[in-house]
Amino acid sequence: MQHKIFIPKETSESEGRVGGSPESVKKLKSLGFDVVVQAEAGTLSRIPDSEFENAGARIGSAADAANADVVLKVRRPTSPEVATYKSGAIVLAIMDPYGNEQALDDMAKAGVSAFAMELMPRITRAQSMDVLSSQANLAGYQAVMDAATEFDRAMPMMMTAAGTVPAAKVFVMGAGVAGLQAIATARRLGAVVSATDVRPASKEQVASLGAKFIAVEDEEFKAAETSGGYAKEMSAEYKAKQAALTAEHLAKQDIVITTALIPGRPAPRLITREMLKAMKPGSVVVDLAVERGGNVEGAIADQVVEVEGVKVVGYLNMPGRIAASASALYAKNLFTFLETMVSKESKALALDMEDELIKATALTHGGVIVHPNFGGGQS
Ligand code: NAI
Repeated sequence: MQHKIFIPKETSESEGRVGGSPESVKKLKSLGFDVVVQAEAGTLSRIPDSEFENAGARIGSAADAANADVVLKVRRPTSPEVATYKSGAIVLAIMDPYGNEQALDDMAKAGVSAFAMELMPRITRAQSMDVLSSQANLAGYQAVMDAATEFDRAMPMMMTAAGTVPAAKVFVMGAGVAGLQAIATARRLGAVVSATDVRPASKEQVASLGAKFIAVEDEEFKAAETSGGYAKEMSAEYKAKQAALTAEHLAKQDIVITTALIPGRPAPRLITREMLKAMKPGSVVVDLAVERGGNVEGAIADQVVEVEGVKVVGYLNMPGRIAASASALYAKNLFTFLETMVSKESKALALDMEDELIKATALTHGGVIVHPNFGGGQS
């Protein structure tokens, strides 16, 4: 029997992305799936229904979820949504599981096998399935675009007959995937760029993009990277040293992009109101960590606010602001992961619960929560 894939229209109003693209639909078809895309699912990502149809999908409605074997989503389905899914369906999405235990229970009760794409291990085999990277890269780019829009000066140095406009100074705090792309983008616009991070590995990456690296490089810094490549929470002593080092530097910047995150913890506070006060009027700070509590004091989720004369940009869902590009990459991430769940011989869906990628990302399966971080199974 042919398996059915359903790509719904996202129900969150602030979500412009979609879990499929014409390219991913073609690939799903060639794997032998029957693909149904909800009408207007791609509108905000600039994919008209006709493009999905041309790629081989049928255009359907939300009711098509009821008999889908696989649902490809951007965000975790809401409880009413998941209640309409078929028991046993595979659901791939950015599940945002931490602190959302009730939603996990609801998915378990609905009997779906839910996979959190953001828990994908950062190993070579899974690189093309890494939604954190594909989306953070675009978020870093978009943060610079938003900063440039809010900034009322030019970014590059301009030497004109009427005088010289100096290049903007951009400081990027947190040089992971988003931060590195922010550095590259700001450099392309002609800014003078510097960056900081707590992981020693980032030093060379920052330098290779032509930016100056500024950090407290003590013993704690040398051990700040986990085996998974992420940052650890730093000690109060380190934070104080870091604040002292960056405060002076911040005062000279025009644009600051903060991206600092620590997995499973609130975002570290890197910029205080005092530091904003010391910045030049009209400076712009973009806080990409606002969803997780924010790196910047005074940042407000989904707003641009003025704090001490500085514009603080706190847009949520930065990848959603560049939805057409973000959806194309996200759809590819979903397809590549789903492909690993299809048996090469029988072409049927075959979940191997012992597979490393499945184990790392499976939240619910067989009516229960299975992920050890959320009380399931044995860790
Ligand atoms: P993230 O989104 O968790 O954090 C962003 C950045 O903030 C990180 O670079 C982190 O070190 C930094 N940070 C945390 N606390 C800080 C503080 N107090 N002050 C300043 N900076 C702070 O990290 P992301 O972007 O996911 O990348 C983490 C690492 O994983 C990077 O080295 C990246 O290159 C690596 N990576 C590896 C992949 C693979 O091997 N397949 C795929 C993607 C990323």
